[in-house]
Amino acid sequence: MKKVLPFNKSQIEKIIKDYPTPFHIYDEEGLKATARNLYKSFSWVPQFKNFFAAKTNPNPYLIKILKEEGMGIDCSSLTELILAERIGFKGEEIMFSSNETPAKEYKKAKELGAIINLDDISHIEYLEKNVGLPDLICFRYNPGPKRTGNRFIGDPKEAKFGLTHRQLFEAYKICKKKGIKRFGLHTMIVSNEINQDAHIQTAGMLFDLVVELSKKFSIHFEFINMGGGWGIPYKPTDIPIDVEFVSRQIKKLYEEKIIKNNLAPLRVVMENGRFISGPHGYLVTTALHKKEIYKDYIGVDSCMANLMRPGMYGAYHHITVLGKENATKNKTYDVVGSLCENNDKFAIDRKLPKIIPGDILVIHDTGGHGYSMGFNYNGKLRSAELLLKENGEVIKIRRAENLDDYFATLDFTKI
Ligand SMILES: Cc1ncc(COP(=O)(O)O)c(C=O)c1O
Repeated sequence: MKKVLPFNKSQIEKIIKDYPTPFHIYDEEGLKATARNLYKSFSWVPQFKNFFAAKTNPNPYLIKILKEEGMGIDCSSLTELILAERIGFKGEEIMFSSNETPAKEYKKAKELGAIINLDDISHIEYLEKNVGLPDLICFRYNPGPKRTGNRFIGDPKEAKFGLTHRQLFEAYKICKKKGIKRFGLHTMIVSNEINQDAHIQTAGMLFDLVVELSKKFSIHFEFINMGGGWGIPYKPTDIPIDVEFVSRQIKKLYEEKIIKNNLAPLRVVMENGRFISGPHGYLVTTALHKKEIYKDYIGVDSCMANLMRPGMYGAYHHITVLGKENATKNKTYDVVGSLCENNDKFAIDRKLPKIIPGDILVIHDTGGHGYSMGFNYNGKLRSAELLLKENGEVIKIRRAENLDDYFATLDFTKI
């Protein structure tokens, strides 16, 4: 898919006068268009909802935009629950899909009336003992050897998430006995998966389980939650997911498995993060140095602390050199950050136009798992986040960290 930018060099030069690089900038128009396309495609689903995964991009301004588009929020920690509350989410607009969860987090989720999604059978007792059981319960299924997963989450039978098939049946049986009457079923077995068949298969797998579980225990399922993990075309050669096609295939399965078995209405919900916000974020950074040793390096004013994916997963992020969009890509560079780690590289052996210090580079697709995975290693400070609004205005939606933020947790008077 051709990589295009929602801004040009002169707009960015103007922005840099107010907000020095590096910063992440998000495109409101693109974000809304992606959200609307998803909702339009799945409009056949009774009460369709995407619970945007807060961990993907926890900026309240962006999440508020998505809330206005009809989305809920998927939280994985106490902090994210409080973020959801402060943005204005209420009750079952919040999905709490957590791992190794402490009691105080379940307590907050229950207080908020969030949908609680348990990651293990032993958490039924833990929840009951510490917090009390909610009216509605959901479990995360791990299909183990029945599915293959993908490179990012790994083989399901090696993954720490969810309940086995046997445990899943046991869990609903126990919950029914304990008087719970409202049920959901969740899974998430892939991450950044652009093979759309995987997502269609996941829906089919969950529908089959709903049929089996409903019959076996005479319980009614309110929803299946397909999880997140829909991939985006990071590379220009990647083929994006055809949402309309995926929706049509899932609808066929819904008719065959759910409607025919008299199990409708069943909601189909998701927790996509990256698919929604990923393509609409850009890390803008300036080339500071050019280094020619055994290879040619371009050193920029950001680093892995601003975008960890390339260093962590060897992930590809497209790079545009502003003003040189149409120049011949006749140079091969490693584009590197300033950490003392040799994997702090945004690109390796990348064909790019000739870059000189002062050039502005735009790293694409940083709207999901970009800023949010940031850290302070090497004393690096997190950047600002900006929003390019639909009317062309640019607003600051998070300031850059400063030295006081870094030192705020330390008490130098005791040393
Ligand atoms: C349980 C759960 N839901 C949703 C997501 C969102 O994933 P993505 O942003 O890839 O859609 C994640 C990501 O790790 C997750 O763990």
